[in-house]
Amino acid sequence: MPTVDINSQPGKDFAGDALLVPVFSGRERHRLPLAISKVARQVMDEGDFKADYLEIVPLHHPNGVKETRWMVLVGLGEEEKITLNKIRKAVGAAARFALKKKWKRIGILAPSTSTLEHDVVQAAITEGALLANYDLVAFKGGKSEAKQFESVEVFTNGDDTRKARRKLPMIEAGVAACHRVRDLANTPAGDLYPEVFADMAVKLAKQHKLHCEVMDVPALEKGGFRALLAVGQGSVRPPRLVKLEYKPKEKPKKHIVLVGKGVCFDSGGLSLKDASNMETMKDDMTGAAIVLATLVACAQLEAPVQVTGLMGLVENMPSGTSYKPGDVLRTRSGKTVEVLNTDAEGRLVLADLLHYANELSADHILDLATLTGAAMVAMGDAVSAVMGTDQRLVDRLLDAGSAAGEHLWQLPLVEEYAELLKSPLADIKNISGTRWGGTITAGLFLREFAGDASWAHVDLSGSWSSKERDYRTHGSTGEGPRFLLEWLMD
Ligand code: BES
Ligand code: ZN
Ligand code: ZN
Repeated sequence: MPTVDINSQPGKDFAGDALLVPVFSGRERHRLPLAISKVARQVMDEGDFKADYLEIVPLHHPNGVKETRWMVLVGLGEEEKITLNKIRKAVGAAARFALKKKWKRIGILAPSTSTLEHDVVQAAITEGALLANYDLVAFKGGKSEAKQFESVEVFTNGDDTRKARRKLPMIEAGVAACHRVRDLANTPAGDLYPEVFADMAVKLAKQHKLHCEVMDVPALEKGGFRALLAVGQGSVRPPRLVKLEYKPKEKPKKHIVLVGKGVCFDSGGLSLKDASNMETMKDDMTGAAIVLATLVACAQLEAPVQVTGLMGLVENMPSGTSYKPGDVLRTRSGKTVEVLNTDAEGRLVLADLLHYANELSADHILDLATLTGAAMVAMGDAVSAVMGTDQRLVDRLLDAGSAAGEHLWQLPLVEEYAELLKSPLADIKNISGTRWGGTITAGLFLREFAGDASWAHVDLSGSWSSKERDYRTHGSTGEGPRFLLEWLMD
């Protein structure tokens, strides 16, 4: 993490590599420090910069800033339409621009608006720059050095900075968690299989004083996790279940259980995926990565609630030992499932975990999973779907998503679709037999195992991006921990 400073100076004396200047289109420019506003006005008057949202124009040694080599103008669009998320993303885009130039010491001029409080704007620009500060080079050959900022300085030109500075620990923990999810989900499945993931959890638990329990195959057999074991039985990499516990020092008001799908690679199993659909399936453990990263952040921030994380780690592979279409599994709950498609494996893993979660006296159970391709069809890759049995819980999550700038949208658990999951042979089948409404039928399947708990489910369609945009990098977006922290810290 770079050093971060938020101060009330005007920024024109900044002596770093680049000063990022977010600018509204239209009439706002007079609120910039005079010297900088002159530069911006000239570029705008000459028609080279309109300050459209996400528009970027770099200026070399402009008049007005003496010590810094570059000034990067970035458009915020119309002031009337501004939101914190747009600010986060515009600054993030400018920060990605700076990062690629290998500029290490950056300054950012906080824009001031009449519609948003200073402190939240300052927090959003800091967050946008830090979220963008990501470069995974572990898998590059040679001596590739990660492009990373050394320092980020936010200038508020006289506005009070105290409230924003108090938000820094939460911002930094959320960003670190986001980057941890990106690291885990971007790591190839050849390097990150259930045992490796579990070892990582053990190591992090030690560092952050979390209680950690790892169940290996004999322990899972003893615990009755038969559906999870069935999904993993085709792989030479044995499954693991990791349980992480965070307890606050003072008596917690609530106990939350977070459940993560941790399919370290999803080939589809015997219902094999085709080549293109398999390309990104190393990321099918994103739910578990979010759970792990969020628990670490809870420990760092001393969250006021008790949080237990359950991560179901398996590889879904085709082989002579694989579970088969037509198999009937007796899940941990005793309910039987007819498996008609081994590629609908996430819900089987989660079925056992949700049943286990019900034994932990939780106030709320939330599972996170890259569960259906249908969620991506419905929502695209920038919005994740939420469903649940407790509307108040769902509402809290939707609010947390808006606050964090991570889009969530609710889908209904439509009762009349439940019959699509009826099996002639077992209590339920693992696919509905129709392409339509696949995200909802998957949610309905999970509901069967969520018991009476206040439960919600997030289908993580927003977890992978095939291209870089704003503060998001190509590959794993790292979304998840930040909206969860908004909820858990509140
Ligand atoms: N991990 C996939 C879902 C997925 C696919 C997430 C693409 C993100 C992008 C899941 O295990 C799966 O394969 N689901 C099947 C379910 C189907 C067989 C009912 C799907 O979505 O095709
Ligand atoms: Zn699958
Ligand atoms: Zn999957």
